[in-house]
Amino acid sequence: MNSLVTYQVEDNLALIGLARPPVNALGQPLRAALLQACEQANSDPAVRAIVIFGASGLFCAGADITEFGSPASFATPNLPDVLLRLTRLDKPLVAAIGKLALGGGLELALACGYRIGEPQTRVGLPEINLGLLPGAGGTQRLPRLIGVQAALEMMISGAQVPAKRALELGIVDRLAGSAEHLLASACEYARELIASGAPARPSEPFADPAKGVAADFFERYCVEQEPRWKSRLAPRLVFSAVQAACLLPLEQGLARELALFKQAEASRQSEALRHVFFAEREAGKVPGIDASTPLRPIAKVAVIGAGTMGGGIAMNFANVGIPVILLERQGDALDRGLTQIRQTYGISVKRGKLSEAQLEQRMALLSGTLDYADLADADLVIEAVFEKLQIKQEVFRTLDRVCKPGAILATNTSSLDVDQIAAVTSRPQDVIGLHFFSPANVMRLLEVVNARETAADVLATTLKMGRSIGKIPVVSGVCFGFIGNRMLEPYAREAHRLVLEGATPAQVDGVLTGLDLNMGVFTMLDLAGVDVNFLVRDANRAAIAHDDSYCRLGDELYALGRYGQKTGRGFYQYEGRERHNDYEVIALAERLAGELHVTRRPVDDGEIHARCLFMLINEGIQLLDEGIALRSGDIDLVWINGYGFPAHLGGPMHYAEQYGLDKVLAGIRHYRDSLGDYGRMWFTPAPLLERLVAAGKTTIERI
Ligand code: 3HC
Ligand code: NAI
Repeated sequence: MNSLVTYQVEDNLALIGLARPPVNALGQPLRAALLQACEQANSDPAVRAIVIFGASGLFCAGADITEFGSPASFATPNLPDVLLRLTRLDKPLVAAIGKLALGGGLELALACGYRIGEPQTRVGLPEINLGLLPGAGGTQRLPRLIGVQAALEMMISGAQVPAKRALELGIVDRLAGSAEHLLASACEYARELIASGAPARPSEPFADPAKGVAADFFERYCVEQEPRWKSRLAPRLVFSAVQAACLLPLEQGLARELALFKQAEASRQSEALRHVFFAEREAGKVPGIDASTPLRPIAKVAVIGAGTMGGGIAMNFANVGIPVILLERQGDALDRGLTQIRQTYGISVKRGKLSEAQLEQRMALLSGTLDYADLADADLVIEAVFEKLQIKQEVFRTLDRVCKPGAILATNTSSLDVDQIAAVTSRPQDVIGLHFFSPANVMRLLEVVNARETAADVLATTLKMGRSIGKIPVVSGVCFGFIGNRMLEPYAREAHRLVLEGATPAQVDGVLTGLDLNMGVFTMLDLAGVDVNFLVRDANRAAIAHDDSYCRLGDELYALGRYGQKTGRGFYQYEGRERHNDYEVIALAERLAGELHVTRRPVDDGEIHARCLFMLINEGIQLLDEGIALRSGDIDLVWINGYGFPAHLGGPMHYAEQYGLDKVLAGIRHYRDSLGDYGRMWFTPAPLLERLVAAGKTTIERI
């Protein structure tokens, strides 16, 4: 037997083990081996039932994602055909689902007549996260097994369902007592089936999935859900396939599913989301560190500053059971910080996401102090005090004195030079930047700023720590704003300038949200605070820009006390949470344009798209060339997870590749030549972009 599956006949049972580490992805060779093993078992008179299991414990994480978009994806035998064949074998099949059955893995289990899990089993159909729908029978067989509502919910959410819930829903028939006993229990189950003369496939609990469902179920579902889907294709295709399960007999439903799957697989959105999937895995691979790099233990964390960021940062650790001590300058600030954390947890309790007991457990892991001596045993200290170099340097001098040798000293600065902070300590090798995003307990991005002298084990430890608190850590070099905020600068600059030239904030934001960005530049500034943005800009004018006239509008709004949502007025005016255009802002833009000799004219949406996006992309390419970002996929992760760039566009770098690098370059040159002095000042193509286009490259890489 092929080494991709193990095969054994024991006591009338064929035991077929999937053996393609790490996750038994169902690529063509495994599909062929599995089919061959099942056929062999079916034709062996000594075999009366078949058990399929994961040879290393884990059952299967689905189709092989690396095959999508290539002929291998449907190379014979393709997955839908293999699974159809399995449903037609005349002996009972038992799927022994250890750990995970995801996507095609769950579809494989659904093609078996019987399924058993273990207490740690999780099942799910996460295809939607890859811009796909289940394509090997899942959209047709799951509704027939558990009913249309539960099935649709699983496919639209892509969520993993834990063992107990899978049992309640009827996705698994029973659970083994433990993972170790799974195979033995599956064999026992198979023997019971033989003894009772059970059919190869039991009848379906929801043979007519539409029965019992309200006549207007699909219509209502669509009205409620569609606005959230924005321009995403996959949810709509999942929805159509599940509707087909209710309208068509199985065979026709499977054909419909296949057609929809192929449409999804060929889509740009799926290509982009597959890129994001691999970029997330790639981001952990950093030159100079590997599995042999030692890791420092992190059993106790300290956070300096219990403000907006410090509190959120601390919650991340309490959430995973790590004790955190918060240090403040004064008791009232500390009390405020801890109260705010309790309130934030309280909101989760109200929403049913956390129990009162869990809230108390987490709060019990958090303590406060005003005394640096209490930080002596911390393994990791994260500083989140005011954004002023002198203050941060003072904190680090103190940490250097009080912290134990080997403690990792991190700064959450969003713009300051981490090298300059490290330099005031006697241990710059232990200093690193950990740039969390607001709200720090929610946002998944963590920029890990690898300073000049940061030691490899400090970098490796913080990357692992980041993943263990549920973040997506991305390594950045040291520069003003690191990857994310540095790219924000030219993108926001264009937004401001376009308003001076004649666009309105709402028009600019509308173009950006039209691309499915979570929010436009001006809505974001109003939310983050016009004042916060002003203060950072004001402290760094020299580093940001040689001509800052474009941000005069922001400066004037600051001077008028229009700080954004918190004051009810900023780039927009607010009534509660409702946002309205404010003609005073437009009048202000007109006045400033006059003072700055900017000619006002109607600006079309295409120009807004091009100028904001191309400048964002250009800066990203420049960062890659400078080595601040290790790879273009890292830049995409930063913008997707920190700045609300839609994952189904793949991030700004992937978007540029799909758009055409030559077109981006041509656009930048066009505005350089057509916007007068302003164009000549700002629209300089990144040299790497020019080299890539000259070399005929269509993907962004360092050359
Ligand atoms: N295909 C190909 N490679 C896969 C894979 C898959 N389905 N799932 C995981 N891998 C690879 C990863 O790329 C990674 O490779 P690397 O070591 O070379 O970087 C390796 O397996 C380990 O993966 P992770 O680093 O992600 O390991 P974790 O333990 O953190 O997570 C996991 C494991 C939960 C299985 C996670 O990898 C995952 O979510 N995988 C994708 C699951 C999925 O989306 N399945 C549906 C596929 S589409 C489908 O089935 C279509 C069907 O309906 C026709
Ligand atoms: P904040 O003003 O809400 O909190 C800062 C806290 O630090 C205050 O509670 C203050 O009392 C305390 N503090 C000041 N000096 C201190 C000292 N010497 N010792 C102990 N505590 C001290 O500020 P915020 O927004 O939490 O920002 C903190 C840091 O995080 C800054 O460096 C900021 O640039 C960065 N950051 C902020 C983000 C945001 O969106 N607010 C996002 C990412 C990073």
